[in-house]
Amino acid sequence: MSLFTELQAELDALRAAGTYKHLNHLESPQGARVRMEGRGEVIVLSSNNYLGLANEPAVVQAGVDALHRYGAGTASVRFICGTFTVHRELEAALARFVGTEASMSYVSAWNANEALTATIVREGDFVVSDALNHASIIDSIRLAKAITKCTTAVYRHADLDDLREKLRANRSAPRKLIWTDGIFSMEGAIAKLPDILQIAREEGAIVVMDDSHATGVLGATGRGTAEHFGVLGEVDIITSTLGKALGGAAGGFIAGPAALCDIMTQRSRPQLFSNALPPTVAASALAAVQFTEAHPERVTQLHANTRYFRAAIEEAGFRPLAGETPIVPIIVGETALAIRMSELLLHRGVFVTGFGFPVVPQGQARVRCQVSAAHTKDDLDAVVAAFKDAGRVAGLLG
Ligand SMILES: Cc1ncc(COP(=O)(O)O)c(C=O)c1O
Repeated sequence: MSLFTELQAELDALRAAGTYKHLNHLESPQGARVRMEGRGEVIVLSSNNYLGLANEPAVVQAGVDALHRYGAGTASVRFICGTFTVHRELEAALARFVGTEASMSYVSAWNANEALTATIVREGDFVVSDALNHASIIDSIRLAKAITKCTTAVYRHADLDDLREKLRANRSAPRKLIWTDGIFSMEGAIAKLPDILQIAREEGAIVVMDDSHATGVLGATGRGTAEHFGVLGEVDIITSTLGKALGGAAGGFIAGPAALCDIMTQRSRPQLFSNALPPTVAASALAAVQFTEAHPERVTQLHANTRYFRAAIEEAGFRPLAGETPIVPIIVGETALAIRMSELLLHRGVFVTGFGFPVVPQGQARVRCQVSAAHTKDDLDAVVAAFKDAGRVAGLLG
């Protein structure tokens, strides 16, 4: 059998198991409601467009202006062929926003995460990671291990005793890194950041936090997990995305001391061997940061919508995972049921994705709802009504 015949057989198996991922095509900008090809208008409950900035006029216009000012791109990597002034402005704004000395942008947070670990650890160093960290962190650590021969370990999710134990067992390692998500994307849970910082201080480790789901989301002004806990400026290194709350196009960044960001320019492979963020995207992200700084009420609205939706969906008889973030996972059990729920909801005009094994543990398949500041009360009421109806049809509600 040829490779491609085998790949086709794998696709057929995914279809037969009901786990094949169908792409839904949108015909309008991302927002609380979108036009979906073949479906008409649907309410979006599965986007990371937390602040509703993906189609915010100032954000869109900044991209248009940058296209005219800078053209499509530099046609090379930054150190060879120059970088645009908008990258420098964006990096200064991001550092200011998340409370660090400097930042360095990448074409995605995936890229930023992947770049980081291997650039800053050496043989004999120790990297420890929360079991529920994002796939990009997992791959970053795997890559670092292959390149540098550092030692790695995984601690049980949010289990601080396990974290401490693993650090103690590797006390002699010269550099020790703790990697955690700020918000864990499948649970909506927030990292126990103050405790992690305390342990890091006691054990001589540094904390690297991926705040992709928390930037623009947590804290009174959206500065992320550190602001939420009142420890802004205390996290050693923050990574995050520009592809969620901050405009939603693409891009990511590493934020921390200036020396770290300079080393990333000097040595991190995605900076050395790959083009920078397109200037259109950089300008839109910059406008998104400026908009968020000027409009903290957007963040307040997101928090209010989150509280409203969590209360309403519980009132309707569902039992979402407890929490305070706009990620509201409703556990349904089997993967097929999660997929069926998302299909039933789409038929009722609500676009929300079901996640099953292996993305989440076996038997804990879920429909993951994500609330946005762009949702109106009417949107959220319509979502809850659709959930009640779909839940009855699927046998989830009595
Ligand atoms: C925690 C976390 N880190 C990184 C990423 C990757 O972000 P990007 O789309 O910018 O590569 C994601 C996206 O799903 C994420 O949830």
